[in-house]
Amino acid sequence: MNAFPAALAQAAARIEARLQAEIEALPASPVRDAMAYAARGGKKLRGFLVIETARLHGLPPEMAAQPAAAIEAIHAYSLVHDDLPAMDDDDLRRGQPTVHLRWDEATAILTGDALQALAFGLLARTDAAPSAEARLDLVTTLAQASGAAGMVLGQALDIAAETSAAPLTLDAITRLQAGKTGALIGWAACAGARMAQADPAPLAAYAQALGLAFQIADDILDIEGDADLAGKRLHKDAQAGKATFVSLLGLDGAKARARDLVAEAEAALAPYGDRAHVLRAAAQFAIARQN
Ligand code: IPE
Ligand code: IPE
Ligand code: MG
Ligand code: MG
Ligand code: MG
Repeated sequence: MNAFPAALAQAAARIEARLQAEIEALPASPVRDAMAYAARGGKKLRGFLVIETARLHGLPPEMAAQPAAAIEAIHAYSLVHDDLPAMDDDDLRRGQPTVHLRWDEATAILTGDALQALAFGLLARTDAAPSAEARLDLVTTLAQASGAAGMVLGQALDIAAETSAAPLTLDAITRLQAGKTGALIGWAACAGARMAQADPAPLAAYAQALGLAFQIADDILDIEGDADLAGKRLHKDAQAGKATFVSLLGLDGAKARARDLVAEAEAALAPYGDRAHVLRAAAQFAIARQN
């Protein structure tokens, strides 16, 4: 039986509650309201990966909810900024108007900034991991994954590619996607091992393949998806001149690449044996999803 949908739903509810309680405790302001709005909904896949890999290392979901909320706060910030007019200029996210339209651009920029600060604050709390060393490791690695060597770098490459004279090579697109999507997914999947001060290498290999497959699926959804299910505008990548696996390999080539990557992700979990069956199902979900 596939235990993944129930595990994802349970993780999402736990993370949503954690995030909303943290935001609720902030002083009342339009930014606080917009943070609550931006943090709401979504699949919470990155947070799920934290909770599930913590479980794999014998750590309870109540503890993992803290770093899980942190990565979802960073992810929500990245989406608020991704949707801004200066970036992808989108008007719909998770089925709702984007933050800069519901409020204004200044509020959207500040909301992203504040969600980022919230994330690092959550990781520094004593209940985020069993030891101070592990918490410091989580903070340091999240700074790398979300900053100018990780997600921000990928976003910058993504925007630059829109106006590049020549199409990007496969290597260049792989680097771009490893940053914009892979870095946060990579951090999330390694978080359980880091919390337990165990070796994250097998999970890093899993996440590298999973992150790429996940972004290829996002690019395929942009072409073939159902807008109501996706909750965001589709058919925008080609129009904006985005460099994606689909733009380079075509739809069939991209689908084949995504399937290969899922097989790679599953193979990387071999050291964990059957205990990783929910993570294997998560890899399948990454390319079968409709939102
Ligand atoms: C969307 O991420 C942005 C990408 C990196 C592809 P998700 O597809 O995880 O979005 P939510 O969190 O479920 O809304
Ligand atoms: C967004 O990628 C990645 C980050 C926000 C870091 P996309 O621009 O492809 O995501 P969607 O399609 O707007 O969700
Ligand atoms: Mg984008
Ligand atoms: Mg976008
Ligand atoms: Mg996209």
